[in-house]
Amino acid sequence: MLLTLAPMESLTGIVFRRRHHEFFGGVDRYYTPFFTPTVEPEFTERQMRELSPEANRGMNVVPQLMAKDADRFLWAAKRLAELGYSEVNLNLGCPMGTVTGKGKGCGFLRHPDELREFFESVFAEPLPIAVSVKTRLGWNTEEEFDDLIRVYADFPISELIIHARVRNDFYKGDPRTECFLRALPKLPMPVGFNGDIHLVSQISEWEKTHPELQSLMIGRASVANPAIFREARGGAPASGEELAAFHDALMADYAAAFGSIGNTVGHMKQYWFYMKNMFEGGEKLFKQLLKTKNVSDYESLVQEIATTLPIRTEPAYGWWKPV
Ligand SMILES: Cc1cc2nc3c(=O)[nH]c(=O)nc-3n(C[C@H](O)[C@H](O)[C@H](O)COP(=O)(O)O)c2cc1C
Repeated sequence: MLLTLAPMESLTGIVFRRRHHEFFGGVDRYYTPFFTPTVEPEFTERQMRELSPEANRGMNVVPQLMAKDADRFLWAAKRLAELGYSEVNLNLGCPMGTVTGKGKGCGFLRHPDELREFFESVFAEPLPIAVSVKTRLGWNTEEEFDDLIRVYADFPISELIIHARVRNDFYKGDPRTECFLRALPKLPMPVGFNGDIHLVSQISEWEKTHPELQSLMIGRASVANPAIFREARGGAPASGEELAAFHDALMADYAAAFGSIGNTVGHMKQYWFYMKNMFEGGEKLFKQLLKTKNVSDYESLVQEIATTLPIRTEPAYGWWKPV
């Protein structure tokens, strides 16, 4: 079963991906955070910094597109094929109002007929690249998934990766695993499961109980415990030194990319929201860390965390929120 790293806007872009591959590895496919193809049929310079084959060398990367318009999806998919990619992923899972309001991401799931028309155009002629889809189970209720399955089943989707929640769950509560499992036999294409996997034992359990799955996709836990993939393949857990060196490398790369250390501190805090779950205790230190805007305070707090707090073998599940 493939282990893949989830697309996460502002977290798992090129900087994280490269450093993750260098420090920990074990990922079969890295999915990029989404790109929105414009009317103009060319990726911007900024997008190319994330997509260039040189920057992504050595990794198996799948770019993700956010699109509602088949023509835009098609030019971008063909361009990605020219760049050497063998798979492109369509985002049908983003729950943010700014995206869904335009009928994109999860917003597309409200209109199965429009989604069918979109796929009819996309698959009208043979494509030089495989098209996978990352979806949720519906907008409001999981019963909506039956209509969506009927659409997906009619097209040569290379893999359907299912974040087992509906849009209105956002990221809260537990994944709707039972609904996912009921749908599984009805889906003719390879299927991947996504949602709240954060322990190596969960990966083993999925591999044992559902070997028919093509992949398991891991998002937030890959930031909390970047060694989770390596461990799942029998490798060593992350050491404190490794996590500290990984943090420092990310920070140096972001500082170079942003050209400002102040912005870098703000950005690194997004990682700490998850990374703090690998440390035992230290609530007060993390509170201070997530609050400070001062670079030298940030650096000394990181130093104190790295040198005084014991590392857990598995992350605490601190990002779970009730419905
Ligand atoms: C900060 C953040 C950014 C995300 N950005 C994307 C994205 O660009 N594309 C996408 O398909 N999903 C995105 N997701 C959803 C994740 O890919 C994943 O489906 C979700 O976090 C559930 O998996 P997990 O429990 O393993 O994290 C994002 C999630 C988070 C928390």
